[in-house]
Amino acid sequence: MAAPIGEMCRKCSLQIVQKYAFKSSMSSNVLVRRLHKIPYRNFNVPRHLRKVVSVEKSQIRTFADDADSKSRLLVLGIETSCDETGAAVVDDRGSVLGEALHSQKLVHLKHGGIVPTVAQQLHRDHIEEVVQGALDMASLRLQDVTAIAATVKPGLALCLQIGVEYAKKLVKQSGKPFIPVHHMEAHALTARMMENIEFPFLVFLLSGGHCLLAVARGIGDFLLLGSTTDEAPGVVFDQVARKLKLKHHPDCSTLSGGQAIEVLAAQGDSQAFRFTVPMARYANCDFSFSGHKNQTYRLIDKMEKEEGTYSNQILSCVNNIAASFQRTATQHLMQRLHRAVLYCQQRHIIPQHSKALVLSGGVASNMYIRQSLQAVADRFGYRLVCPPPRLCTDNGVMIAWTGMEWLKEGRGIAEDPEAVEFQPRCPLGVDMSTDVLNAGIKTSPKIKIPT
Ligand code: KG4
Ligand code: ZN
Repeated sequence: MAAPIGEMCRKCSLQIVQKYAFKSSMSSNVLVRRLHKIPYRNFNVPRHLRKVVSVEKSQIRTFADDADSKSRLLVLGIETSCDETGAAVVDDRGSVLGEALHSQKLVHLKHGGIVPTVAQQLHRDHIEEVVQGALDMASLRLQDVTAIAATVKPGLALCLQIGVEYAKKLVKQSGKPFIPVHHMEAHALTARMMENIEFPFLVFLLSGGHCLLAVARGIGDFLLLGSTTDEAPGVVFDQVARKLKLKHHPDCSTLSGGQAIEVLAAQGDSQAFRFTVPMARYANCDFSFSGHKNQTYRLIDKMEKEEGTYSNQILSCVNNIAASFQRTATQHLMQRLHRAVLYCQQRHIIPQHSKALVLSGGVASNMYIRQSLQAVADRFGYRLVCPPPRLCTDNGVMIAWTGMEWLKEGRGIAEDPEAVEFQPRCPLGVDMSTDVLNAGIKTSPKIKIPT
């Protein structure tokens, strides 16, 4: 059995730093990494640590039961802005004491997209068990937490409403302070929970609902460099996957659209079909994916006609289409990031000695995209930080942690919790897109996608 928190593991020099409640679905590797704070990039988990797996659930809980937990700040976070009902309790050191998540993704997959009324009902049905689940896992009562945080903006109105109302109910019942949280800020700040990332840093969010480039200058202090002018990349990956009927592909039936495209693209020729890189002539950091989607749709229609495919039959060139589609989307992302980095350099926004880029969102788990963005980061000496996949997608931990960031600064507490209203639309920080455009930054020579 490994040593208690704060001490050195007896068999290695790694310090046991994390208090972490056991989660049955957590893999053994993840658990030992957390307990010893082994970076994700270091895949060599010492052999003796793998034994931790065999320790009973209850023992791990005891092991994780840090005596001074009562004297620390604890925030309960609640997330309901889209299709995940999430809750978590974190402490001020960034340890996750308890977390629970109910995902609606499978339900929405059947509907072919999110139906807000269905999403709302599912949040309503699950919020209580999710919040209670997080508290139970942390072995805490509501009275034990220091503050309650919840996503209040932006998101689907019907979904936000459930989380905000539930949080207000808990606040009233417990008398605890209420910290309203901006969902995008939470995505951006989550990385600071696992790694030491000083402000200011660059943030790139890519998911089914978001696409933005921003500079995080401090808590509640962001510069928005660019965002999507139409759709988010994840949605477009999903739509193209649907158009390619990938649900009927033997290798893809259980995958999300984006994952399916990535898997097939890896076996295809990314130069087989030529697409136009979106917005290549616009010298800003904004994004557009609809035109690229329509070009891909037209190609699929043409190839289906040529091959004479019927109902659920899949095109013979599906891998090449997936690869070419993914390549062009990636070139677009790289170009926007390239400009954002140059803009920050020109305006002296990010200090030369500490350059970090936080990449998050469901699409960031695409390794082809990640490696391509890594190439841009490497070119300019940025440290690329990607939270682990479970924290890249929507969850309660990111809300709890963001609440904690505000709490630690003694800011962000709602004066009148009852008066807090949810806001479906709310941009992140100060819009710098005009200034980016006026800076007239060229992104040539292009940075190549690594092979
Ligand atoms: O952050 P996320 O879980 O939640 C929402 O934005 O709702 O992102 C989900 C999106 C989906 O559209 C999914 O297709 C996309 O992320 N995604 C991917 C990959 N994995 C998930 N897109 C491209 N490549 C992937 N490997
Ligand atoms: Zn999100």
